[in-house]
Amino acid sequence: MDAFIIEGGNPLQGEVTISGAKNAVLGIIPAAVLCACSSKIENVPDIKDVNKMIVILEKLGAEIYREKDTLIINTEKPISYDVSDYEEETGQMRASYYLLGALLGRYRKAIVPLPGGCNIGDRPIDQHIKGFQALGATVVIEHGQVKMEAPELKGAHIFLDVVSVGATINIMLAAVRADGKTIIENAAKEPHIVDVANFLNLMGANIKGAGTDVIKIVGVEEMHGCEYSVIPDQITTGTYMMAAAATEGDILIKNVIPKHMEAITAKLSEMGVIVLEEDDGIRVIGKHPLKAVNVKTMPYPGFPTDLQQPMAVLMTIAQGTSTITESIFESRFKYVDELRRMGANISINSRTASITGVKALSATKIRTTDLRAGAAMVIAGLIADGETKITEIVHIDRGYENLQENLRNLGADIRRISEKDPACL
Ligand code: UD1
Repeated sequence: MDAFIIEGGNPLQGEVTISGAKNAVLGIIPAAVLCACSSKIENVPDIKDVNKMIVILEKLGAEIYREKDTLIINTEKPISYDVSDYEEETGQMRASYYLLGALLGRYRKAIVPLPGGCNIGDRPIDQHIKGFQALGATVVIEHGQVKMEAPELKGAHIFLDVVSVGATINIMLAAVRADGKTIIENAAKEPHIVDVANFLNLMGANIKGAGTDVIKIVGVEEMHGCEYSVIPDQITTGTYMMAAAATEGDILIKNVIPKHMEAITAKLSEMGVIVLEEDDGIRVIGKHPLKAVNVKTMPYPGFPTDLQQPMAVLMTIAQGTSTITESIFESRFKYVDELRRMGANISINSRTASITGVKALSATKIRTTDLRAGAAMVIAGLIADGETKITEIVHIDRGYENLQENLRNLGADIRRISEKDPACL
């Protein structure tokens, strides 16, 4: 029951280095079990979702060594394809669904509990299942478990009905070990899809077109271990960019791929923020008053849904009325009530929030409803007048490495407190 206490008002200043991308590494770690081999993965963030994924693989029988941000995953000894006993771990994250594709690819069998993750709307996995079935698997869902078996995995032509990050990666994970050629059309193009494909190719897979909407995979019989360094996290980078803009700060964000940030850079520039791109860094200088803008979340290269909530905080203090339309997840406005408690002027009409800027947010006790909403609450606390208490920060720990230390180094007045759960007293 940890909480953050933030005394708002300090502009962020200095440098911060971004760690590896959560949504890439959560595909790469399961990918490492695709053969009886050992792989070394660098730039692995120390976050709850990654740590849970490691625990699950260890329980399945993988040998995993960790030193700082480097992981060695050894699956030379066979591991289990049955994850059904580890529902507690799988239920706390979305990415546990990648065990389906990876174990099906290696063993032609997988039993994996339905995934958990942020409660941001309907999150079916029908496109994942459609892909596995096209590759030859029989899929049964019973007692909360997805049970799959494929006497033979055969390449197939798969057209995704919706652009899905998870389904694209999951189908790639199984198809790299199928017989013949798989084509995924209407594939997602996010940077983490390219990163997982690069890792798989280094393991001996044959994937072409990752990063476009048509991915072609020729299955291979043999794969081998490799060494790989995970790309920097696009969403964490965007979070710090917005925190700097909101606090009228001036920060240099290091270990960044500026190309991945273009949609965010464009919107912040439109608001009047100065964004200067360097080779592997971005400097952000906040200039107030911020101007109102309109944002619609879209699959990459559009504005990412995962930065919708932090962006809304900037809009609460921008001059005029901004709109933010959420086109990916229908329930991603749950955090709005918390911002209203801080004095924000927000109205919701279906999938669009209209946000009219106020002079300042006022500090109070707020809670975190999911991972990215948590990042938004922290930015709100950084700009509020007085002391903000943010509860349920366990969500934030799932995806942000060293958030409070990094913010403190940038001059923020933020501390973590531990509280006893009243229900346990
Ligand atoms: C991943 C990310 C999450 C991010 C999201 C969108 C991970 C672990 N999580 O989630 O942080 O917010 O991408 O960038 O990488 N859909 C279906 N059927 C499916 C799959 C998806 O209808 O089988 C729909 C979803 O309900 C949603 C849309 O497709 O409306 C996009 O979802 P998807 O890209 O699959 O998101 P996730 O993989 O859940």
